[in-house]
Amino acid sequence: MYSITVDEPHRCGQERPFLVLIIPVAPINREARNAIRNTWGKETTVLGRVVSRYFLLGMSKEEDGTESINAQVLEESRTHHDILQSDFLDSYKNLTIKTMVMFEWLSSRCPNATFAMKIDSDMFLNVRNLVGMLLKAPQHLYMTGNVARGAPVLRDQTSKWFLPISVFPEDNYPTYARGLGYVFSLDLPKRILEASAHVKALYIEDVYVGLCMRHLGIGLTDPPRGDLFYGTVPYLTSNCYWTSVITTILRGSDQLIQVWRVYQSHGGCKHF
Ligand SMILES: *[C@@H]1O[C@H](CO)[C@@H](O)[C@H](O)[C@H]1NC(C)=O
Ligand SMILES: *[C@@H]1O[C@H](CO)[C@@H](O)[C@H](O)[C@H]1NC(C)=O
Repeated sequence: MYSITVDEPHRCGQERPFLVLIIPVAPINREARNAIRNTWGKETTVLGRVVSRYFLLGMSKEEDGTESINAQVLEESRTHHDILQSDFLDSYKNLTIKTMVMFEWLSSRCPNATFAMKIDSDMFLNVRNLVGMLLKAPQHLYMTGNVARGAPVLRDQTSKWFLPISVFPEDNYPTYARGLGYVFSLDLPKRILEASAHVKALYIEDVYVGLCMRHLGIGLTDPPRGDLFYGTVPYLTSNCYWTSVITTILRGSDQLIQVWRVYQSHGGCKHF
């Protein structure tokens, strides 16, 4: 297995978080990390509960200039204490490895947290609504998010998610939570890791987690409202839109900073 080369071994034990946010991001993408640190990532106490964020990185690619990026990552780690880096090559096809490293880190360093969320770096996250939802959620064998049930496997060779029949013969994916942002109770990481020893590797990380959940016989939970874990930004966002959701996919860091300003001006809106 891969090891963690930049770690925060004691933070979780000291902070005792209710919710841990793990954000997979490429080493080179410092802009995304800074945008998150200045927006939803700075919310560390929400509804009286401790929330901690960590960025999860692999090793940078040669062409990105490994040495200068490594130095920058170490500097960020010293400044913010929010970097976890593992020694596999950070690439799209290695995202399942990244997710498994996340489960390993959580089960070894953060076993006493109640919930964790894996959330992509290009997302809006309403931490207040998330914690509000989790305060009413079961704390065991629980996983939720944008849950896909019976989705057909993509056989179009030009698709980013193309899977040949030889790799995955079933017509439909298992029930899974889409990788843009899924939430789970902290008793699951250890079980998913155990299951992964029996489930054939697949580079589509969210589907792979779904296969592990199926192997375990643990069902996914639908969120209390179907549009809380939203896909894309609606064409027209109503005045209180950002207060009414938990996640939305954005175009990038610029839009996150912009949207965060709008969200913060929504003092009169009711949370979900
Ligand atoms: C988790 O809680 C148990 C029981 O309170 C404690 O013994 C253990 O040290 C804690 N682990 C961490 C990593 O905080
Ligand atoms: C995944 O990471 C391993 C370990 O660093 C590396 O050898 C391999 O080339 C990577 N795979 C891809 C597809 O990037």
